[in-house]
Amino acid sequence: MQKTNENEIFQNEPKKVIVMDNGTTKTKIGFAGDDSPTAEFSTILGRPVRTDYPYTTRLDLYRCGDAFESCRGLLTKVLPVQKGIITDWEHMEIFWEASFKYDLRIQIEEHPLILTEKPWNRKKNKEITLEYFFEFFHVPKFLLVDSGRLSLLSFGQRSGTVIEIGEQNFHVSIYNNTSYSPFAFVESEISGREATEHFLKLLSNRSFFLTSFAERQIAADMKNFCSVSLDFAKDFSNEKKAKIIYEFPDGQEIDLYEEVFLVPEIFFQPSLIGLDSLSVQDAFFELEKKTEKENFFTNWGKSKKEIFKKVYLTGGSTMFPNFAERLQKEINNFGNEFETEVISTPERKYSPWIGGSILGSLKEYEDLFINKKEYEEFGDSIIYQKF
Ligand SMILES: Nc1ncnc2c1ncn2[C@@H]1O[C@H](COP(=O)(O)OP(=O)(O)OP(=O)(O)O)[C@@H](O)[C@H]1O
Ligand SMILES: [Mg+2]
Repeated sequence: MQKTNENEIFQNEPKKVIVMDNGTTKTKIGFAGDDSPTAEFSTILGRPVRTDYPYTTRLDLYRCGDAFESCRGLLTKVLPVQKGIITDWEHMEIFWEASFKYDLRIQIEEHPLILTEKPWNRKKNKEITLEYFFEFFHVPKFLLVDSGRLSLLSFGQRSGTVIEIGEQNFHVSIYNNTSYSPFAFVESEISGREATEHFLKLLSNRSFFLTSFAERQIAADMKNFCSVSLDFAKDFSNEKKAKIIYEFPDGQEIDLYEEVFLVPEIFFQPSLIGLDSLSVQDAFFELEKKTEKENFFTNWGKSKKEIFKKVYLTGGSTMFPNFAERLQKEINNFGNEFETEVISTPERKYSPWIGGSILGSLKEYEDLFINKKEYEEFGDSIIYQKF
């Protein structure tokens, strides 16, 4: 009998599926089957002002991430993802290459890849993404999945309602196994960026002026100390008592009062910052209304209640304490036909990635991947024949 050496066995092992979530601010990347991403880093790039650096140095500079400020003058800031959609392919390609090489230390052409996308991503974007991964990165298998659907999977569900609020995305979407419907999605203009802007304004009213990129990052981090009010009128009229004392990196301190409630309140009352956008609860009601179109749920073989009775929260901007409780109160106190439960987990910031990790590690989902042969045979259109 022929002896197989250990190396051969190893080489024949299928390589682990890579899961990547390119958010507007943060990229989460890692291996399917793991509980959390291997790395999380800024999706912001710095384009070198000078063009005569060697290629490898350029890759390092591009990936300056949160150190952007210290490289000021050398770099121009580039945001290749805007509102969850890739808008700058040239820089995205560099960013992807560096992520595989430096953060995961893998040869991407050996690994199947799951990439998240915004619900109702544009057709053209889907096709370009597919071309990049098959023709430039030469992945053996590829799957592009809606972040809401993946989040749902992270909660162990395939049908239901998802509210995702990140840095520049706010959408409510409903799912029923693998069916799609154009009525199943509502967006709002209010997300993490607006909350940070509002915090900056409130701080400037108190004579703390944070203007540079690094200082704005401080305001974004300060949001971690905010909390959603369960009774806004009561909390707002409370006696002036510091809720939190925050220490800036330079040692200066600030007592935070009602700011801690005012910042996340914009998700429930966008008019506080003069925005004529849907609040979280109104976005939920708007989607319910949209589905009242003829035969919507009959076509899905589900009742309205089955889809809307549970709402799953995902994305960094739902991380404020009491977000789920307040939303549940708003939905059920204002004329919902049935009791809705709002569900959140401590790791909901990573829900799209975790859902990808589950999807990539289960045999039952293997057929959903597009493989190289199918891509070569059917071209871009293959993306509409699958999940
Ligand atoms: N603990 C927290 N409390 C409040 N806000 C938070 C918390 N953690 C993160 N955020 C905010 O969540 C946003 C980032 O969330 P997330 O990582 O889901 O977005 P993203 O994937 O980069 O962007 P998007 O999904 O919009 O394209 C930022 O605005 C950040 O300030
Ligand atoms: Mg995101």
